[in-house]
Amino acid sequence: MKVAKTIDDIRRLVADARVGGAGLVGLVPTMGALHEGHFSLIDAAAGECDFVVVSIFVNPTQFAPNEDYRSYPRPVKNDLSGCESHGVGAVFAPSAGEMYPDGFAAAVSVSGLTETMEGNCRLGHFGGVCTVVAKLFNIVGPDVAYFGAKDYQQAAVIRKMVADLDMPLRIAVCPTVREADGLAMSSRNAYLDDDERTQSPVLYESLQLAERLIREGERNAASVIESVRSLLADNAPLGKADYVAIVDPDNLAAVEEIKGDVVVALAVKFPSARLIDNMRVDVPKANR
Ligand code: PAF
Repeated sequence: MKVAKTIDDIRRLVADARVGGAGLVGLVPTMGALHEGHFSLIDAAAGECDFVVVSIFVNPTQFAPNEDYRSYPRPVKNDLSGCESHGVGAVFAPSAGEMYPDGFAAAVSVSGLTETMEGNCRLGHFGGVCTVVAKLFNIVGPDVAYFGAKDYQQAAVIRKMVADLDMPLRIAVCPTVREADGLAMSSRNAYLDDDERTQSPVLYESLQLAERLIREGERNAASVIESVRSLLADNAPLGKADYVAIVDPDNLAAVEEIKGDVVVALAVKFPSARLIDNMRVDVPKANR
């Protein structure tokens, strides 16, 4: 496994791999602090592609000034050995200066899909995500890029960017990987203290509650949201719900009456970490 810190070096490694016969190049964009969720993306990439690149870059432009850019975990050695043991061909780990040299002035944005949920709570976040992901796609030139379903809105925004800007690659979205008690894996879980960690499985439990209510025939989104909010308030008193939303899976518009498949999404702010999770609930045609 090779590690490239510059754009020229990673381009050379990918070009060499292609000359050496790699037909499909896969990219797994990450901010490091790799966990089983990331490794499931890397394994999916390794299963489908001839050469896998993992980017490790804590992207400053997607953090608001009050967020955790400085304290974001950066366990570089562990990340590199994890990549090596999962069959990664090359890691791209640039500095902030390599990605955003002095005078950098471009930005990529996607409207509409970014104006709800995470986009409402984290102003400027998706502009930073789209800009860095567009740069990574241009730098690495992958055939397939892998993202996790835990960041449902991020995946939808990136798909839209790729479609609208005619970027020549496929976006693969892989299922959320969970701890045994249901907590979705996230690099930020490490911030939780013991009490917060004990309460954190309620995010998944509340999504399961929403799913059960919808399957049992509840069609009023506001009433499902109210039940979810009260479960969160009862079982995670240390957390504060930033939002609980029921949205259309494609355009992310809020749904009032549940007539088809929906995504239930939520964000809960604990004192030490803000967690997000979501679940797609498919409503069979016969039950609509
Ligand atoms: O999901 C993430 O870790 C980041 O948002 C991404 C896609 C690597 C861009 O910095």
